[in-house]
Amino acid sequence: MIERERPLSPERRPEDAVEPGLRPRRLEDYIGQDRVCANLRILIEAAQARVETVDHVLFYGPPGLGKTTLAFILANEMGVKVKTTAGPAVERAGDLAAILTNLGPGDVLFIDEVHRLRRDVEEVLYTAMEDFALDIIVGKGPSARSIRLNLPPFTIVGATTRPAMLTAPLRDRFGAVYRLDFYDAAAMRAIVVRGAEVLGIDVDARGADAIARRSRGTPRVALRLLRRVRDYAQVRAAGVIDAAVADEALAMLEIDDLGLDEIDRRVLALIVEKFAGGPVGLDTIAAALAEEPETIEDVVEPYLLQLAFLERTPRGRVATRGAYAHLGVPYPEPSEARPPAQAPADQQPLFR
Ligand code: ADE
Repeated sequence: MIERERPLSPERRPEDAVEPGLRPRRLEDYIGQDRVCANLRILIEAAQARVETVDHVLFYGPPGLGKTTLAFILANEMGVKVKTTAGPAVERAGDLAAILTNLGPGDVLFIDEVHRLRRDVEEVLYTAMEDFALDIIVGKGPSARSIRLNLPPFTIVGATTRPAMLTAPLRDRFGAVYRLDFYDAAAMRAIVVRGAEVLGIDVDARGADAIARRSRGTPRVALRLLRRVRDYAQVRAAGVIDAAVADEALAMLEIDDLGLDEIDRRVLALIVEKFAGGPVGLDTIAAALAEEPETIEDVVEPYLLQLAFLERTPRGRVATRGAYAHLGVPYPEPSEARPPAQAPADQQPLFR
């Protein structure tokens, strides 16, 4: 599987454990996602002015962009506690009931991968989100009855990489829904500089830029690469990260100028070389690379789409001109693939 050995994977991994101070705790320290931050600011201020809990919030977007961080910031700004869980971790409806009954007034429950909640668990969440209540069935058979347990108000913050997989009733119960996008270059540089400060890493502006450029618009990747480059700098360059050190370290990790790694290039090369640029179906790509289609779709494709190296068409994935250029393969001009019906005027025979 590609996840384990891949320094560029946006998925959370054990080595991403966050040092104190690395994750911003205030909205004012959060870099990028300006539109989401502006909306959150209003949400928080309005709730504070009304002395109410914040409406339930859903964050969606590719992994590693800060959904968890924003949930913690929201709780911190509101001065409440935050508990975290994840869709697949809540095995039974009773588990969710236990979590909910342990929340204090106004607390935030962060549910990562909220699209992966089981159906029966999700149904408990509906009433909880809507009425701050749990309907509990007591007794069995004809004597069974339902009693309602009221809960203090709380805020559910859901996060998902796959908003389309949320059921409509669950989606509708989130009052505020925000999409997180890949970060732009300036934000990525600022995040690397801030991360280096917190971790006590000596990096100059060009070194920060070299790391930021290859981090796929994803802070989690940037901070992971920063740590790997720091290791290299320590062993080979007296601990200081400049552009040359960053370039060397990242080249050793086989990460190219645009932040593509070997897996990305294998996906592109497969489409270009084995399938004449596509269209080719996701399942075919996954099978050829011995990967799960979901892994290709969630982990590899978003950044290739962002770079416009890949297009999703109804008939399958297509490699773009940019992908060919990046791989150094000549783009098959339509004239090469299919000769034009008529030769250009200057090449037409004078006599037929
Ligand atoms: N560290 C990781 N992501 C960050 C962000 N968006 N702002 C500030 N620091 C960060």
